[in-house]
Amino acid sequence: MRTYEIAVIPGDGIGREVTPAALEVLEAAGRAHGFRLDTTEHPWGCDYFVDTGRMMPVDALDTLRRADAIFLGAVGRPDVPDHISLWGLLIPIRRTFRQYVNLRPIRLWPGIASPLARVSPEQVDMVIVRENNEGEYSEIGGRLHQGTEDELAVQEAIFTRKGTDRVMAYACELAAKRSGRICSATKSNGIIHTMPFWDERFAHVTSGHPELQAEQVLIDALAAMVVLDPGRFDVIVASNLFGDILSDLAAAVAGSIGIAPSGNLNPERECPSMFEPVHGSAPDIAGQGIANPIGAIWSGAQMLEHLGEGEAAAAVMDRLEQMLADDGPRTRDLGGTATTADVTAALVSSFT
Ligand SMILES: NC(=O)c1ccc[n+]([C@@H]2O[C@H](COP(=O)([O-])OP(=O)(O)OC[C@H]3O[C@@H](n4cnc5c(N)ncnc54)[C@H](O)[C@@H]3O)[C@@H](O)[C@H]2O)c1
Repeated sequence: MRTYEIAVIPGDGIGREVTPAALEVLEAAGRAHGFRLDTTEHPWGCDYFVDTGRMMPVDALDTLRRADAIFLGAVGRPDVPDHISLWGLLIPIRRTFRQYVNLRPIRLWPGIASPLARVSPEQVDMVIVRENNEGEYSEIGGRLHQGTEDELAVQEAIFTRKGTDRVMAYACELAAKRSGRICSATKSNGIIHTMPFWDERFAHVTSGHPELQAEQVLIDALAAMVVLDPGRFDVIVASNLFGDILSDLAAAVAGSIGIAPSGNLNPERECPSMFEPVHGSAPDIAGQGIANPIGAIWSGAQMLEHLGEGEAAAAVMDRLEQMLADDGPRTRDLGGTATTADVTAALVSSFT
């Protein structure tokens, strides 16, 4: 039987609820399609930080490197500063393993109501390709004269030719496989060094793809357009910060952040890729058993696809679509009363 080594980091809050739920569904898909997930769970995250002073052990990256893929829940706890949870776990994994593409598909599923009036499922089907290794999320900078009237903070944004070109090339290839439309999120009117550079690289990379219909839109206008006319967009390529914000906005247009998935991809496959729902640890609902597991399950389907189990991935997506279209169980964020366990059980039983 085909077996894949999966490093599992449930993390914090609802990460610990949606991760086992998603694994149950993926394992059911594996039984139906002739493969097994050999999972190793790592208890890393904010509780680990409170006990040890680190978000993960010193040799964690060596441990993770041996896996075929990493499956993550979410990290974050109200009494641990967010920059510690992000920079102590997520960002080192994304950067060390050169997971430079953050792939965030967004769909309005049949049976789910968008908070926007007059939006139908065909109009919301896009993929945000977020640059995941550099950009605005950089450690370069510092603070001076802290606590005085002269206090200042400097934060550098880093855009390299290599880093920009490779994520744009990935986005172009994806657009060529989909509708042929690609949009770059920019802000070259206000950010006068890095964003004109981003635009130049976009022009250069898309010049190698004459088959594509390429446009660039200022991020502020783009945010409004994704709300007013989501059907206009298919593949959107964006910097780390713009992609992060835009994908939460687009996920909300599609009904709930609880259903949005993401893949942190190392397209060259030199290192493991990591799959995680877009949402965070949601401390406001953690422990109640009501978190929507769909974002984690869809991220799991992305992982199966990445592992070469395309048929099983498609089956998970079909079952999800059917469950939602048939008015199956849905959690509170989607207007229902179902628990995480109800949604999981419905999907698992659809494989037996
Ligand atoms: N990748 C990650 O690990 C990640 C991502 C985002 C935020 N965070 C962290 O998570 C913590 C909470 O952040 P936040 O509140 O800004 O964002 P969040 O995504 O955790 O929650 C935002 C809102 O959406 C709801 N929500 C989120 N996921 C849901 C789900 N699956 N089902 C139902 N409702 C859901 C929450 O209840 C909350 O009202 C912070 O510590 C933050 O740093 C981590």
